[in-house]
Amino acid sequence: MDVLILGGTTMARTLASLLVERGLDVTTSLAGRTREPLALPGAVRVGGFGGPDGMADWLAGNRPGCVINAVHPFAARMSDNAATACRRTGTALARLEAPSWRAQPTSADWTWVGGHDEAARAVRRLPDPVLLTIGRQETAHYLPLGQRDITHRVIHAPDEALPAGWTLLTRRGPFTHDDERALMADPAHTIATLVAKDSGGTGLDPKLVVATEIGATIVMIARPPAPDYGERVGAPAQALDWALARLHADS
Ligand SMILES: NC(=O)c1ccc[n+]([C@@H]2O[C@H](COP(=O)([O-])OP(=O)(O)OC[C@H]3O[C@@H](n4cnc5c(N)ncnc54)[C@H](OP(=O)(O)O)[C@@H]3O)[C@@H](O)[C@H]2O)c1
Repeated sequence: MDVLILGGTTMARTLASLLVERGLDVTTSLAGRTREPLALPGAVRVGGFGGPDGMADWLAGNRPGCVINAVHPFAARMSDNAATACRRTGTALARLEAPSWRAQPTSADWTWVGGHDEAARAVRRLPDPVLLTIGRQETAHYLPLGQRDITHRVIHAPDEALPAGWTLLTRRGPFTHDDERALMADPAHTIATLVAKDSGGTGLDPKLVVATEIGATIVMIARPPAPDYGERVGAPAQALDWALARLHADS
């Protein structure tokens, strides 16, 4: 195996295509959270490795030429585990991550918070309607908000029952500007507060563009700290160059 990609993101999918197009032997690892994941170029393995020890064993057994960690910026446990396992086994590691939206000029106008509980506390004093775009796994942090006009947009329904007044929207992105305008700028139900995670990108996500257009308050959850092992790359094409250089250096 040339490259192990830790995936579950659009960037990981793009990277898998680029690497396979170059004829590399690529395996993408998925956590297995998404039912019916989209098809991926190259091989796919599904499920956790069993912590850093399990991943170190997996690396020792499968010996990929390098690892590219392309998990979501908020998948902090997987990133920490990958750094530990790669350091321990001497496996080359790169972190592929979209640039933080902090680099965007309008980000200074947002309410930045350090986590979901802090975001929920901020929403207490902000107006309805609220649009939550924080993922099903974090639902519990927001339930204490109780009966409010909150739309919770997720790919799959959360396990928890939602308070009265909440609307569950099960949709898989990516969403276009028109999609977001239809949801957020409906004159009869214009979103006043948007809660989002700093997933990042080279430009603003359509929901952030539309929130700005309609004057909604944006509550943005800052990224968890990143591990210090591994090179950092900001785009799939850069990750491809890094992998080719690593594999060339080792051959
Ligand atoms: N968190 C988000 O906001 C978010 C958003 C979009 C997509 N995703 C994707 O969803 C997946 C899970 O995210 P999470 O936030 O639940 O992660 P996490 O909290 O960092 O990871 C929890 C555990 O799930 C397993 N895992 C996570 N990603 C994996 C992968 N790519 N391959 C194999 N095992 C993986 C690992 O289990 P073991 O310890 O057993 O190895 C890890 O310890 C990731 O692939 C991520 O890219 C997450």
